[in-house]
Amino acid sequence: MSIELRVNGATHRVETDPQCSLLAVLRDDLGLTAAKYGCGEGACGARTVLLDGKPIRSCSTRVSVAAGHAITTLEGLESAGKLHPVQQAFIDAGAMQCGYCISGMIMSSVALLKTNPHPSDAEIIRAMDGNVCRCGTHPKILAAIRAAGGAR
Ligand code: FES
Repeated sequence: MSIELRVNGATHRVETDPQCSLLAVLRDDLGLTAAKYGCGEGACGARTVLLDGKPIRSCSTRVSVAAGHAITTLEGLESAGKLHPVQQAFIDAGAMQCGYCISGMIMSSVALLKTNPHPSDAEIIRAMDGNVCRCGTHPKILAAIRAAGGAR
């Protein structure tokens, strides 16, 4: 089936099974590999992308559901060669170890700060509850989100 997707401001037409996950189409058909396959059950957050600005689990979202919506991946955050403030804050805070979780962490952070520019630590922790970091960089991730607050 032919499906039209709006990803990072560009329109793409892909031939795919409509039951296929959005994550698979982003990675395998469009070459956008920032979102990662983690647990495959929608529980780890590594595959977080934004659908109309809201964080979703691209591994458990059918591609047909995403058609007609604005999809944003990590690759779409930078503008004119400049990193998004949340990306920069993660770098400045040294919030990555292996980096596997970071795309999802940043996408969830961007969504949080859009609706709540100055979240408390408790609000950050609640919003990031669906994103798992196996390396344990949570304190630095928290610091990065705190620093990015209001800087979007
Ligand atoms: S930095 Fe390795 S899983 Fe988070």
